[in-house]
Amino acid sequence: MYSDGNNFIMGRNYWNVLWNINVVALATFCVLMQLFVKVAVDSLHHRQLLLECIMEYKCCRFFSIYEYLFNLHHLPYFMDEIITDDGSLTYRSEILDEPYHTKAGAIVEALEKHARALKVWEKDCPVIFDVCSGLSYSAACALEEIRSNGNNSLVTIYLFENDRTILEKNLNLPDSIKYTQDGALKKITCYHHFKAAIRKYLHHNINVYKSENLRITLMFGDFYLTINSVEESADFVFYAPFSPMFTPQMWSYKMFRILFMHMSPHGQLTTYSYAKKVRDALTEAGFKVRDGPILGRRSPSLIAAKD
Ligand SMILES: C[S@@+](CC[C@H](N)C(=O)[O-])C[C@H]1O[C@@H](n2cnc3c(N)ncnc32)[C@H](O)[C@@H]1O
Repeated sequence: MYSDGNNFIMGRNYWNVLWNINVVALATFCVLMQLFVKVAVDSLHHRQLLLECIMEYKCCRFFSIYEYLFNLHHLPYFMDEIITDDGSLTYRSEILDEPYHTKAGAIVEALEKHARALKVWEKDCPVIFDVCSGLSYSAACALEEIRSNGNNSLVTIYLFENDRTILEKNLNLPDSIKYTQDGALKKITCYHHFKAAIRKYLHHNINVYKSENLRITLMFGDFYLTINSVEESADFVFYAPFSPMFTPQMWSYKMFRILFMHMSPHGQLTTYSYAKKVRDALTEAGFKVRDGPILGRRSPSLIAAKD
């Protein structure tokens, strides 16, 4: 009896010890997991650090994979302010070391490579997609050209952007943007509409802004996803993601094919890139590609037409 009881007690002790070890191990595991998750989440918020590491190892291809895996789109890019040669302001992404516009002139670039290259004022009731709208300069210049050429028809504009920080920067700009071209001081006077549209979205979560003969819809999020909820077809697409080196998926056949399907039969697209890969992907997607104006670079910009 005694020895059995002893064994019983010994056995119970054994299981108690084992149980305690398990509880301690589980608790340690939980604490470590919590720490791990906290560090992981913190590091996500330190996007700059993460991207710096990626850049340091020149893993440009992995950049988009990291972006995708960690869904970093909602986190702000770090950016420097630049005054370009036409006097207008733009930004430069610190991490990508890429400016939002050419140093030769942000407004002049938006005007010449997009609005004027496509003669946007000639179309009655144009539908415009400003893809990767950033400071909304391309769409604002188009609206300015349309109105200053006497076209008072309904203008429908879709702004596609995935970064709140750059949208907030729109709000800091003046209602009317000054720039110089060919030695003359000029103004984009319609910018207040874009600020109002963006303010409405940022402050009230309403993404449609209407004014007389003007409708601006802000599609916030990854273009690849938001484009699917737009039912109208674009007559003009201004396409300006970061360069093909950093966001190759934005310049792929798949992306251009999606755009092709969302454009009207005579729709045209403009972009600053003249890379062979971009021209090939556009052509493969069904566009007829031709040279656009040269500004701030050696190579021309591109115009891709559906017909
Ligand atoms: C080179 S800047 C475009 C500048 C712009 N055209 C302007 O006038 O300011 C690229 C912009 O694309 C945005 N962007 C990058 N990837 C995007 C995506 N997948 N969907 C929507 N916007 C994106 C960035 O936040 C950035 O504002």
